[in-house]
Amino acid sequence: MRLTSPLPVAAVLAAHAFLAAPAAAQAESAADELARIVELWLGSGHGDHGSLSFTYWNDEGAVPPACAACHSGPAFVDWLGADGSSFGIVDHPAPINSTVDCAACHTSAAHALSAVTFPSGVTVEGLGPNAVCTVCHQGRQSNDSVAAATEGLPDDAVSEDLAFLNIHYGIAAAVMHGGEVRAGFHYPGKTYQGRFAHVPGADTCVACHDPHSSAVATDGCLACHRGVEDIRAIRTRHGDFDGDGDQSGGIHAEILGLQARLYSAIQTYAREVADAPVVYAPGTFPYFFHDTDGDGLPGEGEAIFPNRYQSWTPRLLRAAYNYQVARKDPGGYVHNPTYLMQLLHDSLDDLSGSVDIDMSGLIRP
Ligand code: HEC
Ligand code: HEC
Ligand code: HEC
Ligand code: HEC
Ligand code: HEC
Repeated sequence: MRLTSPLPVAAVLAAHAFLAAPAAAQAESAADELARIVELWLGSGHGDHGSLSFTYWNDEGAVPPACAACHSGPAFVDWLGADGSSFGIVDHPAPINSTVDCAACHTSAAHALSAVTFPSGVTVEGLGPNAVCTVCHQGRQSNDSVAAATEGLPDDAVSEDLAFLNIHYGIAAAVMHGGEVRAGFHYPGKTYQGRFAHVPGADTCVACHDPHSSAVATDGCLACHRGVEDIRAIRTRHGDFDGDGDQSGGIHAEILGLQARLYSAIQTYAREVADAPVVYAPGTFPYFFHDTDGDGLPGEGEAIFPNRYQSWTPRLLRAAYNYQVARKDPGGYVHNPTYLMQLLHDSLDDLSGSVDIDMSGLIRP
């Protein structure tokens, strides 16, 4: 374990109220508490030294400034300006193999941070302890960058100027704030769900996720959501949003159903309008590839960067962007189910203006 903290852990502990006990007992309970927190953190993704998120740049020897704020604890300290540098920018390439450590979230600058600006330029205030989470889990693209890339181009014409725009990974904050921060591509004339307020007590990152293990205790969920044993089976409303005639599963199943329909529509459109079949490969950047053998599946020789999809039309790019937004938040059905269903529905609806897509039975929430 590495505690490369410019702020001694003792100072972190001293800043918190549970130390209000007589001296000896105090030292012991503080040590126990610290050990407990370190243990939780070591078990989390944030503390996983071997993860791709912290080793991706090992061959280069440093994490470039554009990536570092979210992929290196010391760079987050730099981004916050807690090292005396300016706020909101990483000044230097950052050390590799540096996790999101105690010091990242526990400088006075991190504690004071409460407002966060998203890729769309929208700033959300009053985030309190969730602000740090929101910085790193906000994604890297928005409605605005997709709109700017496609502006002025005819909807159904292939353009060499277009490339896939990837919202990135772990985009929970972008999805939770949804329409408010324009995380997905918003079709003109439609309105979108803003922040999913859920219920008091389950309405913020750290209300649901332990900040150290990053895990969610689901007993509390099931105490309210009676009659199911798995949180993925939760739903609070009727409505066969994906039009498959089955409302027995959770709202998660409706989102997966819409995703599958959108993927199939994207493939139909690419074949018939862009005249170049496309496949999606979940684990391979940049996700959309030419389906050279036309079998509809990402074959080994297909899911490689040189074969990345390059026959984008504006309409296809927008739909593919929204598809990826839904794919890249596995907790999206909890973070903001209505927003994801709206994005998927509207993308299908838009593609159906150019190719024959069965929209019967689909309900926009
Ligand atoms: C400095 C950037 C940064 C901050 C701050 C941050 N995260 Fe993360 N988070 C990451 C990265 C990077 C990963 C991926 C880690 C991995 O793959 O091992 C991640 C992974 C996660 C995961 C995935 C589950 C897991 O354990 O792998 C959850 C949940 C999560 N973060 C929640 C939070 C919450 C809640 C907060 C605020 C208390 C937060 N994050 C603050 C960068 C950050
Ligand atoms: C705004 C914060 C942010 C920035 C900036 C950022 N990332 Fe990430 N990235 C994340 C988070 C959060 C995750 C982890 C998501 C998870 O596992 O839940 C992640 C995950 C990754 C992963 C692991 C994906 C996987 O499949 O496990 C790679 C690779 C990656 N990012 C590359 C990059 C590169 C390259 C850059 C710079 C060009 C970059 N990131 C910039 C937040 C960011
Ligand atoms: C991803 C951000 C993040 C990381 C990494 C992190 N913490 Fe925290 N920590 C928080 C947040 C947020 C809170 C406050 C939670 C609240 O106010 O609800 C907190 C609270 C605490 C507290 C107060 C007691 C408690 O449990 O609430 C202590 C002590 C603490 N952290 C120590 C540590 C130590 C030691 C590490 C490293 C092993 C660490 N933290 C890593 C975000 C983080
Ligand atoms: C209502 C409770 C709730 C709130 C609020 C919430 N989350 Fe989640 N989050 C969950 C649950 C539950 C999951 C796991 C869903 C699943 O895997 O089926 C999850 C999943 C995630 C994941 C993906 C983990 C993975 O497996 O890759 C990340 C990252 C994440 N949340 C971060 C955040 C951040 C950051 C915030 C605040 C912007 C937040 N969450 C707000 C409950 C919540
Ligand atoms: C205090 C009671 C309560 C708790 C605790 C609670 N929820 Fe909820 N949940 C609700 C209510 C009420 C709604 C409906 C909110 C709305 O639609 O505005 C809801 C909505 C949802 C939805 C969307 C369902 C749909 O049909 O769109 C999901 C998914 C969900 N909750 C999951 C969770 C998870 C996971 C947890 C635990 C991390 C949790 N809830 C904790 C009361 C609760």
